[in-house]
Amino acid sequence: MKNTSYSKNQQAAQVIAQAYDSPPLAYVHSFGCQQNVNDGEKIKGILVDLGYGLCDTPEHADLILFNTCAVREHAEQRVFGNVGALKAYKKANPKLIIGVCGCMTQQETVVEKLKMSYPFVDLVIGVDGMDRLPQLLADRLMGGKRVMEKPVEPATVMEGVPIRRDSSFRAWLPIMYGCDNFCTYCIVPYVRGRERSRTPAAILEEFTQLVEQGYKEITLLGQNVNSYGKGLEEPMDFADLLNLLCQVPGDYQIRFMTSHPKDASHKLIDTMAAQPHICKHFHLPVQSGSDRILKEMNRHYDLAHYLELVDYAREKIPGVTFSSDIIVGFPGETEEDFQATLDLVEKVEYMQLFTFIYSKRTGTKAASMPDPYTHKDKTERMARLLALQDKIASRQVASLVGQTQRVLLEGHGRFEGLLNGRLDNNLVVEIPGRPEWIGRYARVKFTGSRATILTGELEELL
Ligand code: SAH
Ligand code: SF4
Ligand code: F3S
Repeated sequence: MKNTSYSKNQQAAQVIAQAYDSPPLAYVHSFGCQQNVNDGEKIKGILVDLGYGLCDTPEHADLILFNTCAVREHAEQRVFGNVGALKAYKKANPKLIIGVCGCMTQQETVVEKLKMSYPFVDLVIGVDGMDRLPQLLADRLMGGKRVMEKPVEPATVMEGVPIRRDSSFRAWLPIMYGCDNFCTYCIVPYVRGRERSRTPAAILEEFTQLVEQGYKEITLLGQNVNSYGKGLEEPMDFADLLNLLCQVPGDYQIRFMTSHPKDASHKLIDTMAAQPHICKHFHLPVQSGSDRILKEMNRHYDLAHYLELVDYAREKIPGVTFSSDIIVGFPGETEEDFQATLDLVEKVEYMQLFTFIYSKRTGTKAASMPDPYTHKDKTERMARLLALQDKIASRQVASLVGQTQRVLLEGHGRFEGLLNGRLDNNLVVEIPGRPEWIGRYARVKFTGSRATILTGELEELL
């Protein structure tokens, strides 16, 4: 595994400074998962380091960069639509530089399509292209050719990249990159490369800095955090890493995602139970409730194993809540298989579900599996699943009314004068409050509920 260290490209910074009369503006938009959002924050960090200012909309930008997601077809279509819409900006400002990076551009077909059908796109670089970005920008500004990089498998862990985080109180902290699991429906291992863990020292250093900077919530990221540590010189697993981080003094909470059920251990659950800094919420994506489908998905666990984990966590961590990802309509999923998913959802009583209709991804194993069910069948199943989940979540949310808990006030609510707070267990509560409270912990009394969110009143700012 290759560890590299970022260093500023002074020469590129000079070229960029000379190319504009006033500091140029960059608009960076990330699609997809938190890992990608975190990559986008690093891209912004690099651009600021090079002298760019950042803007929230593309209209007046000198550089527009889309950091893309390939997980489902719909995600890709959105990106192509968004890129297409930039043609007009380029016409109005021929000096504008348009770039596309991230997971989509790890696929040769996408690079080819951008090259042939989107001539106004200047730069196409992959997931590991961050350190080349300054030089590529400088070259293009000096009149160089369009850059259409051929995808190479991401294989590095880069440390020391400057970062401009989107929030001043919630932070994403990647502990590993890539994935080795090859679930048969999933493109991620193909676009993100093999699993590679950051060293505990690098993670601890970033974590400590975040706590010192006053971050209240730090979410550890990886496609499968439970296999953290594979290939490291000193052996360390995810539970050990959590224990190490929890020694850092301060007022903060830790979340993590994603936990693959095949590697989630009792040791991890015991650690969650023992460490007050760790939120009592377990995102444990099950994908399907049918053992037959789980096998076809190459998930390497069965329902019995999954339910045993849930029971163990419920026993050890009072008040723990679960959330999950579910794919509806995996190739060949029968009504009986789907019913097994509904039964599981009923049994576990998830607080939240992230549900997706299966999307065929070229190059994955499932793409060649027979898929006799129609899209209409699948959308009908999805509607049934959502109706069931709404019922379960509303019931659970209502059962918390009357309690008082500490929440993190994380943003504006639906109307002016309302704020959203997040409970330890990941539920959202809406309270009347002032914008300057955002980013603080508060003790909130839950006075009612509306569908799947709580409503409440401030008792005390903490
Ligand atoms: N590493 C995480 C998930 C990353 S992708 C895990 O293993 O849980 C996030 C979610 O997208 C997955 O959990 C899955 O539910 C969904 N997903 C991935 N590929 C998909 C596809 N081809 N079609 C529909 N949903 C998909
Ligand atoms: Fe995709 Fe499976 Fe890896 Fe998650 S664990 S990223 S679903 S291959
Ligand atoms: Fe999408 Fe890439 Fe994340 S495919 S879900 S942005 S790892």
